[in-house]
Amino acid sequence: MIPTYILVMQKMLNTLLALYQQGGDLVYAGESVTQLMHAWQCGRLAEKSGAPAALQLASWLHDVGHLWGDLEGTPTLLGHDDLHERIGAEVLFPIFGPAVSEPVRLHVQAKRYLVSTRETYARKLSPDSVRSLQLQGGIMQPDECAAFEAEPFFADAVKLRVWDDLGKKSGWFEDTRQDALDHLMQLMLQVSRERVTQI
Ligand SMILES: [Fe+2]
Ligand SMILES: [Fe+2]
Repeated sequence: MIPTYILVMQKMLNTLLALYQQGGDLVYAGESVTQLMHAWQCGRLAEKSGAPAALQLASWLHDVGHLWGDLEGTPTLLGHDDLHERIGAEVLFPIFGPAVSEPVRLHVQAKRYLVSTRETYARKLSPDSVRSLQLQGGIMQPDECAAFEAEPFFADAVKLRVWDDLGKKSGWFEDTRQDALDHLMQLMLQVSRERVTQI
């Protein structure tokens, strides 16, 4: 008999995949890419950088909180912070553990950190990222930067954030839609299996 945790895991992975099957064609709020293109581009950038599977998956899924919530359009234009990084981390932690959920939880704070610590970073942000920065707390203060650097997944969160900013290129999508979704599922299976063996 198949253990119940395997059945539960399969159902959770199918639920996550369905979010991208159903919502992947939505335009990423305020950008010129869809949700699936943005997720794919971030995952591909992580893969090209030689990131381990868990960080590749975090890059793929970092904005799953946008799809999990029901907000449509561009929340920042309404002055609304959708807290998608927290929602995403809550969803991902039980399935994949902290190596995936923590970079996701921290990817918004990483933007605040990079604006504060890298002079040229703010100039490269997209208009929507600039809008949301204010809603998300603005530039980090020195004491916040120090606390952020002490986070166990600080380095991964900063890497993910850089890929996040680069992963908004109009028209860059080298896979078919189905191949991209298949790749996502394979990565989810790999990381969730590794997680189960670690527990
Ligand atoms: Fe995000
Ligand atoms: Fe993103």
